[in-house]
Parts: sequence; structure tokens; C-alpha cells
Amino acid sequence: LVAALPRRQQSILELRLYQGFWLPEHWVPGTVVFQRRFSPRPDDVVLASYPKCGTTWLKALAFAAAARGAYPPAAPGHPLRRLNPHDCVPFIDEIFAGGEEAKLDALPSPRLMNTHLPYTLLPDRVTNAGGCRVVYVCRDPKDMVVSLWHFLRRAKPDLSFVETFESVCDGTVAAGPVWDHVLSYWRPSVARPDRVLFLKYEDLLRDTAANVRRLAEFMGRPFTAAEEAAGDVAAVVELCSFDEMKGLDVNKAGSGTAGRYCAMQRDAFFRKGVAGDWANHMTPEMAARLDGIIREKLQGTGLDFAQGS
Ligand code: A3P
Repeated sequence: LVAALPRRQQSILELRLYQGFWLPEHWVPGTVVFQRRFSPRPDDVVLASYPKCGTTWLKALAFAAAARGAYPPAAPGHPLRRLNPHDCVPFIDEIFAGGEEAKLDALPSPRLMNTHLPYTLLPDRVTNAGGCRVVYVCRDPKDMVVSLWHFLRRAKPDLSFVETFESVCDGTVAAGPVWDHVLSYWRPSVARPDRVLFLKYEDLLRDTAANVRRLAEFMGRPFTAAEEAAGDVAAVVELCSFDEMKGLDVNKAGSGTAGRYCAMQRDAFFRKGVAGDWANHMTPEMAARLDGIIREKLQGTGLDFAQGS
């Protein structure tokens, strides 16, 4: 199957065009197995994102909110103070790429997992009525490009920003094209908001607490009045804040779990954590070109990146 698919080399990864998306080559066989064999549980929550759009933060927030009964967010011994968020929420795509799906079967319910696959490549058993809930986080693609470049050049120091920018613009980037990825989740989130929650990184930055409440409610665990009064929402926000997470010893050193073919140090997931860093990397012409592509692709969909929701 993989050998028969169109192929392209992009910076550090071999990509294959599979069902309209450029996937890292080593994900394709695992994606097929995921599509055929994965059985969601009704209380599963799949956290989905395009790479570099806030996956790590979403994993931390969802984990902290979902597990707050067992692990009070203000507790000094909270797992997120000694584990990287990627070690708290397993990465479906790499688990299936490695033939390790038994690890998912072994997880207790309710399970939290994440994927970079587009909605259209998720198993029918996930997306059909009776499937499980999905949370998506997106981000201004201009900031995504900047974040991606900084991430990739850890593995390939001579990678130019322009090369990364161009591959995002022509769609040949892992899990790309980014606009099709975003729309693949946007449409079901509009049609079935009870099944797909669509979040924006910029909204999370603007009002983290409001989005933590949305997330908890969507996952079926709304904060109670007593928890609100005890300051639990604020405790989740603080526990998962960029400065807090970046400052933890566990996130400063050691190997992360970005994947066996793209091993990254844990600190690679905590760079700057802001919106608008694109202005420090792109010429106005580059920004206008990417904005123009995105505007054209999203036209008429009700989604845009120019403003928060
Ligand atoms: P920058 O490179 O722009 O700083 P992902 O987790 O999908 O790989 O995305 C990584 C981006 O999210 C990086 O963006 C990273 O700094 C940012 N990030 C990670 N943890 C964060 C947090 N707790 N709060 C805000 N941003 C965070």
C-alpha cells in the first residue's frame, strides 16, 4: 500500500499522499490499522490538532480537567508536575505506527488520546453516531509555520524558514494541507457541536478559564459550584500555564514522545507560547500570501483566523 502512494520528501520526513493528506510515511500502515480496528469507548475523548497548534497545552488542560477527581489540580504531586503532557495522553498515530495498540486497550476509562490525523481519516466508528467525543485545537497558520520551523530545525539545523513556509503554502507538510485539516474538523463541529468541540489557540490564550470550563463540560465533567468556589478552574489554568510547564524540570530535559522517527527533546514543545510571533519571522508579503491562501480556502465556511470566536 505505502509503496503505491505518491511520495514527497519534506524537510525531515518522508511523506505519502493518503486520502488527500500528506502523512509521514511511517504513519500510513498504522492509520489503515487504526481505521479498521480501533473501537472507541463511549466516554473516550480524542484530542485532535494540526502539529504545532497547541497539542501539548490541550493535552495538559484536558488531562488536568478530566482527572481532577483523582488528582486535584493544586496538589504538589500532580502528574503534570512530574510528567510531560505527552506522557499523560498517548499519541494514537505513533502508537499504531509502532503496532502498539494494546497500550490503548490497557488504558482505564475514560480514555484521553490524541491524533494529528484529519477528521476524515478517523475511523468511522469514531465519527459515526455512537462514536466518541473529539476536541480540536487550531491556530493562526502563520504562527503554526513559525512554531513548526523552530521545531523541525532542531532535527535539521540548516532548514530555512522559507523552505518550511513554502511547504505549508503548497500543502506538502505532515498532515497537510493545513486548511483541509482545519476544515475537516470545523464542518462536523458546526453540524454536531455535542460531538466535536472546536477550539482556537488564540482564544485559549485570551481566556483560558472560559475554555477550560467549555472543555470540562464537553467532556461530561462540568465544574461544580463547589469546585468553582474552591478555585479549581484557576488551579487548572495555572498548572497548565506556559510559564509553569516550561519551568518544570521534567519539561526542561529528556526525550519527548513526538515519535520514534522524529525524536525531540521535551523542551522542544515549550518555545514561546504567544500569538503573533509570525511578525518576527515573515515579511509582510509572505504573511499576506499565506493569509490570502487561507482566506480563499476558508471562504464561505464561517471560519476565519482574523479574529477569535
Ligand atoms: P511556539 O513554538 O509558537 O512557542 P504543539 O504542542 O502542537 O506541538 O504546539 C507547540 C506550540 O504550543 C509551541 O508554540 C509551544 O510553545 C506552545 N505551547 C506549549 N505549551 C503551551 C502552554 N502551556 N501554553 C501556551 N502555549 C503552549
